[in-house]
Amino acid sequence: MDKFLIQGGTPLIGTMPISGSKNAALPLMAAALLADGPVTINNVPVLHDIFTFNKVIAETGTQVTYAREEQKLTIDPTGMNSYEAPYDLVRKMRASFYMTGALLGAAGYAKVSLPGGCAWGPRPVNLHLEGFRALGAEIEMDGGYVIAKAPNGRLPGGTFTMSPSSVGATVNLVLAAVRAKGRSVIRNAAMEPDVVNLCENLNALGARISGSGTPVLTIDGTDHIRAGAMQNTPDRIETGTFMIAAAMLPGSDLTLTNTQEHDLGTFVNTFRKLQTGLEITDTTIRVRSTDRIPPVSIETAIYPGFPTDLQAQWATMMALADGKSTVTDHIYPDRFSYVPELVRLGGNIERKDNTVIIRGRSVLKGASVMSTDLRASVSLVMAGLAAQGETEVLRVYHLDRGYETLEDKLNAVGARIRRISE
Ligand code: UD1
Repeated sequence: MDKFLIQGGTPLIGTMPISGSKNAALPLMAAALLADGPVTINNVPVLHDIFTFNKVIAETGTQVTYAREEQKLTIDPTGMNSYEAPYDLVRKMRASFYMTGALLGAAGYAKVSLPGGCAWGPRPVNLHLEGFRALGAEIEMDGGYVIAKAPNGRLPGGTFTMSPSSVGATVNLVLAAVRAKGRSVIRNAAMEPDVVNLCENLNALGARISGSGTPVLTIDGTDHIRAGAMQNTPDRIETGTFMIAAAMLPGSDLTLTNTQEHDLGTFVNTFRKLQTGLEITDTTIRVRSTDRIPPVSIETAIYPGFPTDLQAQWATMMALADGKSTVTDHIYPDRFSYVPELVRLGGNIERKDNTVIIRGRSVLKGASVMSTDLRASVSLVMAGLAAQGETEVLRVYHLDRGYETLEDKLNAVGARIRRISE
C-alpha cells in the first residue's frame, strides 16, 4: 500500500488545472449504456473509481475504450449481452449501483449486487428501490443481489417523491426513466450539478428531461438515445479542496484553471467570509492567502448549500483559524473519521454527534496518520502541508480513487510530497 511523506510549511504558488469530475463522470458512463451506439465522454479523469466502473460496464459485454492521454472514454453498448453487476466489483465502489437504473432502462432487466457498508456510516439504497418500483419495476432480493425487471421489457414510468433528496437515487431514476414508455416525475429530486450535467448530456442525445436544476424532474420516455458525444464537467469538489488548501497555507497564491465557479453553489459565498484574495473568471479561480484565517462555522446541505464532500477540508482549515468554529454535517452525520487523526497532528477539535467543535490557533506538527475515506484523506494531506516537520499519510489508495495525480499537482505548485510504494 502506498503512503505519502509530506514536508510541511510550503505555500502553494502557481497555476493548477482542475480535472474532470469523478462524481459527474460516473452517471454519464452509466447513461452511455442507454444509447443506440458508441458514446464518447470527454474530460474523464484518470482515477481508480473510473477504472472500477469501466470494469463493471465491461462485464455486460459493452466495449469500453479509454484514450488516457486525451481523457476520452468511449462506451459502445451495441454488443451488450449480460445484465449483471457482481458483488466483487460493486463492493469496491457504491456508484456501481447506477448499473441498476442503466440496465433497467437499456434492457428492462438488471441483477446488481447491493453495495454493502461504507466507512462513514449507513448509506441506504431504499430510495433507489422505492423509486424503481414507482416507475413500474418489479424488485426482488436474492442472495445479496437486487433483481429489477420491467414488465414486458420496458418501464411504464411513474411518479416518485424522494425524502431526503438523494443524488444517487435521482441519477438512478433518471437512467431508468429516459427510455420508459411513458412520463415519469421525480419530486424533491437532487439539484446537484452532477445531475444537471447528466440531464443536459442525455437531452443532447435525444432524451426528453425537463426541470433539471429544480426539485421536480419530468421525464418523457423516448425510444432512442443516439450515439454521440458527452461532455463531463470540472470537478467542483477538487476545486473547493484546493481553494481551501490555498487559503490555509500562508503565502499561497494559487490559480485554478478549467473550472467553473457556478457548480460550487453557495460555497463561494462562505469562502468569501475568509477575506482571502479571491478573483473569479468564467473558467479560473485565484486564491491568495492572508495572514489571518477568521473562524467561519458551516453546516452541510444539499446543493446549492455547503457540500458534505468539503466539510472535512473546511474543519482542517478551521484548526488554524483565529478562534472557535463548528462544522456540522446534516447529510452524513458520521463522516468524521478525520477528527482523531487531526487531533494526532495537534488540532484542538472535538466531535459531538454530527458537529465538530474546532478551537483554532493550533500549531500542527507532523505525525503518522491514516484515514478510511477519500475526503478525510485529502484533509490529512492538507494538514500535513500546514504542519511543521514531516507527516506520513498512510493508505493513500483512497486518494487515488478520487483525486487525479494529487501529489504531482500539489508538487507542481510548491508542495513537497513523496509517494512511497510499499
Ligand atoms: C453522492 C456522492 C458523494 C456525496 C453525496 C452527497 C457520488 C458517487 N457520490 O453520494 O460524494 O457525498 O452524493 O452529496 O456522486 N439516502 C437515503 N436513502 C437512499 C439514498 C440516500 O436515505 O436510498 C440518504 C443518505 O443516507 C444521505 C442523503 O440521502 O443522508 C444523501 O445521499 P445521496 O445524495 O444519495 O449520496 P450519494 O449519491 O450516495
